[in-house]
Amino acid sequence: MTLTRSSDGRSVAGRAALITGAGSGIGRATALLLAAEGARVAAADCKLEAVESVAAEITAAGGEALACQLDVCDDSQVCSVVEQTVEAYGALDILVNCAGIALPAAFGDEEAWERTLDVNLKGSMRTIRAALPRLRASDAGRVVNIASTDAQVATPMMSAYTVSKHGVVGLTRALAVELADSGVTVNAVMPGPINTGMTAAIGEDDRRRFARRRVALRRYGEPVEVAQAILNLVLPASSYTQGACLRVDGGMLTVA
Ligand SMILES: NC(=O)c1ccc[n+]([C@@H]2O[C@H](COP(=O)([O-])OP(=O)(O)OC[C@H]3O[C@@H](n4cnc5c(N)ncnc54)[C@H](O)[C@@H]3O)[C@@H](O)[C@H]2O)c1
Repeated sequence: MTLTRSSDGRSVAGRAALITGAGSGIGRATALLLAAEGARVAAADCKLEAVESVAAEITAAGGEALACQLDVCDDSQVCSVVEQTVEAYGALDILVNCAGIALPAAFGDEEAWERTLDVNLKGSMRTIRAALPRLRASDAGRVVNIASTDAQVATPMMSAYTVSKHGVVGLTRALAVELADSGVTVNAVMPGPINTGMTAAIGEDDRRRFARRRVALRRYGEPVEVAQAILNLVLPASSYTQGACLRVDGGMLTVA
């Protein structure tokens, strides 16, 4: 044994990454962190201005990034964003599916169900389908889907969201098995309550009360704390982590 530190496989430097939902919250933090670690990042979101500002922040700091307009519900936009990434970087090694919505809606609200499943579940399926030939061509293709603790429990008035996130875990496990021979790993993270655009409407006092009562760490998480977990899953060295669904919830579902 030698004690020489080797960075082999423990870096994303030079890897080409496509991140959806990169205009805000967890996706934005993931784009910034992967870029800071040397990855070349395609930041995609339905809000173009938001990803333009993320890409500008990365390039101003000396990193590599491009901003892409993307509605994950539109197949042609999904295919185009994959091609834009490959055109810019010559490869696609990492796909992180962060685009998501959370619409509070009654169980019978069909429109909310259609929209939620289309963005949260089918959106991830579409991007993986489009990216797959490129990910297979990589020597360390990586997919990370963003589920939620709502993939294990349920929140009132959030049935469509809950079902979509159970679906994301199902998609992750199904592809982990189906793609086993391809060298592509497919994993998920399940965030608990995180301070992002999605939770911004919840008042400060309500957040604090909830966290004190329900979260082991007694606080909401920050987007970069989820991004750190994603970074670990997309490292080339994480080659035997397949079909894992990792809770990043401050111990919320561990509290008795
Ligand atoms: N914030 C939390 O507490 C929390 C908890 C568990 C899971 N999550 C999940 O994390 C993921 C990221 O959410 P966030 O908390 O960062 O929220 P966010 O609202 O800050 O970011 C979501 C991003 O997705 C983009 N988006 C929405 N619909 C899109 C579409 N059709 N096409 C492309 N982009 C689209 C939005 O423009 C936004 O930039 C979501 O899947 C969410 O369900 C969040």
